[in-house]
Amino acid sequence: MFRTHRKLFLTSVIMGIILFSAYGQNLLCSSPSPGRDDLSIDTSDPSSNLELLSLDSVPASCPGIYTVEETEGPYYKKGSPERSNLIEDGVAGEIFTLTGYVFDKDCKPIAGAWLDFWQADGNGVYDNAGFRLRGHQYTDENGLYVLKTVLPGVYPGRTNHIHVKVSKKAGGPAITSQLFFPEGKLNASDRIYHESLLVKMGKNSNGQNIGFFNFRLNQ
Ligand SMILES: [Fe+2]
Repeated sequence: MFRTHRKLFLTSVIMGIILFSAYGQNLLCSSPSPGRDDLSIDTSDPSSNLELLSLDSVPASCPGIYTVEETEGPYYKKGSPERSNLIEDGVAGEIFTLTGYVFDKDCKPIAGAWLDFWQADGNGVYDNAGFRLRGHQYTDENGLYVLKTVLPGVYPGRTNHIHVKVSKKAGGPAITSQLFFPEGKLNASDRIYHESLLVKMGKNSNGQNIGFFNFRLNQ
């Protein structure tokens, strides 16, 4: 009897050691959850960011149609801060980087084009008191913009989307539109959704989410 108990005890100890080793190793090998510090994308140098991408081709081509315009919606606020990084403490959502080019009607990239983004956080909530997840920026000399932000969540009646205004230059006539996502939860039922406004999603070599969208203005 005693020998049986002893055998069981020893077996339990050995199994425990094996399980602990496996679990501990798993803990050591698992990636930390994404956070701003894990992003290696440097928005101060957009052209170098593109070299990190693992997609087959960087879609720098001019769209065949002018960017479709969409309703502004009720949440636009003038006077957003100039910034290309909307990540700050407490922002809910999965981080991703949206990037692309702005072309004029003749498909020439526009340097210094003005883009003003605003969006809901990952829970579908807008900040209407302040400027969280709101910011404007200008394209670089190649017509490229880069926005570090989070994937927007859905809210009643709307699929996942990011609002944007784009102009050849600050203060000029702007188009207003919305960008959508292939995995948008309510794309099929959202009456504003438009297929031509889909962001092309991919990942860079670090496994971080990247979205592409090229604008073509009728200007
Ligand atoms: Fe919206």
